[in-house]
Amino acid sequence: IAQQHDASAADIGIIGGTGLYALVDDLAEVSVDTPYGPPSDSLFVGAFGGRRVAFLPRHGREHRIPPHRIDYRANLWALRSLGVRQVLGPCATGGLRPEYGPGTLLVPDQFVDRTSGRKQTFYDGERRSDGLLPEVVHVSAADPYCPTGRLAALKAAGAAGWEPVDGGTLVVIEGPRFSTRAESRWYGAQGWSVVGMTGHPEAVLARELGLCYTSVAVVTDLDAGVEAGEGVTHTEVLRVFAGSIDRLRGVLTGAVAGLPATEDRDCVCSHALDGLETGLGF
Ligand code: ADE
Repeated sequence: IAQQHDASAADIGIIGGTGLYALVDDLAEVSVDTPYGPPSDSLFVGAFGGRRVAFLPRHGREHRIPPHRIDYRANLWALRSLGVRQVLGPCATGGLRPEYGPGTLLVPDQFVDRTSGRKQTFYDGERRSDGLLPEVVHVSAADPYCPTGRLAALKAAGAAGWEPVDGGTLVVIEGPRFSTRAESRWYGAQGWSVVGMTGHPEAVLARELGLCYTSVAVVTDLDAGVEAGEGVTHTEVLRVFAGSIDRLRGVLTGAVAGLPATEDRDCVCSHALDGLETGLGF
């Protein structure tokens, strides 16, 4: 793996979701390839929130890649190859309770995986030809999100005047269709909080590379099973997200500034690969 040039080095990654295709204008466009193929788009690297940040539009900058076709492995690998060790993952979600209406910001502490058929591991039981990574690894997903990153995001949201919901469960569906009312009512009845399409396998793949990952869920609609909900449309999701974008940028700026230096990390994520011979040279 080629050593990345300094100008493309970053220690924090932001994977922008639906409606967040650019972070700030003056970032350098860096094209990265990975053993899994190219990531969703170029990475945009530079100073943001006083840190070196690499931004990646999850669906591609023109939103051409639906959630089930995103190469999550390529995306996480690409970020790590630039030096990234902490990732913020903003995403658009549907609220599963009436009180989580459009505009709610929720920082989940759990997810439930309702996807199917997505490639969700780097450790696939076969020796890779480059010898990097062991064949079999079982990472802990008990607490799938970085506790330090969650705190930074919550604090930044408060400072941006956005009363965040601290914790909750993000249900990740396969999509691309939205949920039926019955599915949605069932998710709500389980006590789950919000529903989206991209939170898995993004968070666990980050953990598998020893990266901190924090999900920042912006509610764009009430999902179909919530009493007041009328059913979701993609247009509505985009409209509400666009209305939250400036505040979300503010939260991301504050969260980035509040994250520890790479060498000061001491969370469960930073120890995920302890004792393993990964051979990762980056
Ligand atoms: N993304 C935004 N709103 C959503 C919803 N209601 N269900 C799944 N994904 C979503």
